[in-house]
Amino acid sequence: MHEQKEARPRRIVVGVAGGIAAYKACHIIRLLREAGDNVTVVPTRSALNFVGEATFAALSGNKVATSVFEDVEGVQHVRIGQEADLILIAPATADLIARIAAGRADDLLAATVLVATSPVVVVPAMHTEMWFNKATVANVETLRSRGITVMEPAHGRLTGSDSGPGRLPDPEQIVDTANAAYEGVSFGQSLAGRRVLITAGGTQENIDPVRFVGNRSSGRQGYALAEMAAQRGAEVTIIAGNTVSLPTPAGAEIIDVLSAREMFDAVQARADRADLIIMAAAVADFRPDTTGASKLKKGRDQESLSTIQLVENPDILATTVARRATGELPAQPVIVGFAAETGDAETPALDYARAKLARKGCDLLMCNEVGVGKVFGETRNRGWILDSAGGVREVADASKLKVAAAVLDAAEAFTEQAAQPR
Ligand code: CTP
Repeated sequence: MHEQKEARPRRIVVGVAGGIAAYKACHIIRLLREAGDNVTVVPTRSALNFVGEATFAALSGNKVATSVFEDVEGVQHVRIGQEADLILIAPATADLIARIAAGRADDLLAATVLVATSPVVVVPAMHTEMWFNKATVANVETLRSRGITVMEPAHGRLTGSDSGPGRLPDPEQIVDTANAAYEGVSFGQSLAGRRVLITAGGTQENIDPVRFVGNRSSGRQGYALAEMAAQRGAEVTIIAGNTVSLPTPAGAEIIDVLSAREMFDAVQARADRADLIIMAAAVADFRPDTTGASKLKKGRDQESLSTIQLVENPDILATTVARRATGELPAQPVIVGFAAETGDAETPALDYARAKLARKGCDLLMCNEVGVGKVFGETRNRGWILDSAGGVREVADASKLKVAAAVLDAAEAFTEQAAQPR
């Protein structure tokens, strides 16, 4: 669910341009409808070569608006844009982006964008050459400078045998982004040129080849941070433990690890190149002191199976902070920890978080309250962001993407503050 600004359903215009990814718009329309939105589809003439009007009408439950010359007495080319709460264009071709940048109104979709006062989210899909063409680069910059959210495309297989940036992101990623933009989250390029290292998911500590000690982390918050950082222009590396199946954030490099020690090595090998390090992973504090080379058997290995001796894992966050303090790492990385806390009869969760921030020595700590059914595996999150100067800001219940934006806003503010002459 997204935040509703009004009691009535949101009016969302889904613009569809003529690219092969037009079929994915069907899934986007379905997701929006399932969330209770009122969807009007405005396809370009070429989009209708890929998906028929009847499909869009059936999925949206509304008449499809195709031409400025329909419903002329209702002044449709102005009304649709004026009434929209959000305009989401997916896919957007290089041609449509150029027409929007030029302020054209040569079809219903371009005219709708031209009159809109609502947030506009443009999701490009095109061949890599077109995406990198200087004309497209300039047009995308123009759109962004006007406050339009232009998503970074996904990387991967394109229509032919070629591969690179230009793919339409997953429908879920698009809808999450559109909802965040609707809620006022900034997708400006504030992290352009920055390198961001993020740990995500839970570690697994092997008992033998088939059993492990693990936790319930889904990796969703770490991936949402990576997605948000990538959309803000950062070069992102994710050190990923075990996660549920999640789409790759735009252009992010993913290093898969399993155990805390593998995660430790992967982080330490890359920490010196990072400007911002965010440790969102749920790292197992302990691991079995021995790992069976083959499957342990009841009876034969009764002793090892019934009593697992645990030894402590290295603390990745505290070690990274310590390496920065000793000058082994450059001074620049801002380091952000996460804390999953439950309060108890004597101590509220926030007090445990304050103590953890001090103990770990990181610059910022995002604390969320956990418990059965809270945060782990969920798509929403809430909590507090604490900084090492004693500041606390509350993060209201929101999508993990919006929470990610709040964490990045805090990290960006912290970086700016640290750069101020004292
Ligand atoms: N963390 C880490 N390495 C570990 C344990 C935790 O880097 N071995 C990081 C987590 O990624 C998170 C932060 O430290 O950013 C806090 O994790 P948490 O499990 O809450 O901390 P612990 O030190 O294990 O505290 P607790 O005693 O509450 O479990």
